[in-house]
Amino acid sequence: MRISSGVPGFDDLVEGGLLTDRLYVVSGPPGSGKTTFCSQFITRGAKEGETCLYVTMHETKEELMQDMAGYEFGFDRAMQSDAVQFLNLVTENGKRTITQFGSEGGLTNRLVAYIRQNDIQRVVIDSTMLLQHFMQDVDAEITGFLSALKQTDATILLISEMTDPSSYSDEHYLAHGVVFFHNFLDGGSMTRGVQVIKMRGTAIDCDIREISFGDRGLQVDPETKVDT
Ligand SMILES: Nc1ncnc2c1ncn2[C@@H]1O[C@H](COP(=O)(O)OP(=O)(O)OP(=O)(O)O)[C@@H](O)[C@H]1O
Ligand SMILES: [Mg+2]
Repeated sequence: MRISSGVPGFDDLVEGGLLTDRLYVVSGPPGSGKTTFCSQFITRGAKEGETCLYVTMHETKEELMQDMAGYEFGFDRAMQSDAVQFLNLVTENGKRTITQFGSEGGLTNRLVAYIRQNDIQRVVIDSTMLLQHFMQDVDAEITGFLSALKQTDATILLISEMTDPSSYSDEHYLAHGVVFFHNFLDGGSMTRGVQVIKMRGTAIDCDIREISFGDRGLQVDPETKVDT
């Protein structure tokens, strides 16, 4: 089954939507649109009556809502509804607040148990940087983290910061799909774009499409390809 990303124009790039129960990595440089994309994904889930979970670090629900306040895609209403649960796992001073997940095991086990027990259908994890607060060796433990998440019945977006589009890491290989946001210099001005780098089970062309930020949030123009 495919579900809408909630991002106007994006579903056209992936045969109409994202395959459910899969794990997707959303990557890109700072300010390229990763959090906005994921906020629209959660909002769509809430509108569909799905149970959603937004996991973040160093950020309160109010701050995230302020960041999205310039848009009219309904994030406020979604975040205030019972459909969306919000968990900030790392406080400003670096203190972990994993206790929200119960008391057994590390982050991986607790998060997976939480998703199962609450029948969560859409999950956003913003971002892989939070793993360093919970794992002694992220490189060694991230494989287990992703494998466990892939076993759940949730459709998961995992944000992974990445400044060099050519330096892929384990999460890009392990994920079912990878969506990359671009923010690059083009003749003196910055050009934004989105690229579906991989999407298992889906015919994609990997070309970069133009994106823009408007009232409806981030929008993809599926007809307009961007040259790098
Ligand atoms: N109306 C608007 N409201 C808020 N942000 C907007 C608006 N229009 C454009 N933007 C820009 O959209 C960009 C995308 O932000 P977003 O937080 O989604 O990026 P990100 O990839 O998550 O960044 P980071 O890696 O820093 O978390 C921001 O740099 C912001 O300036
Ligand atoms: Mg962000």
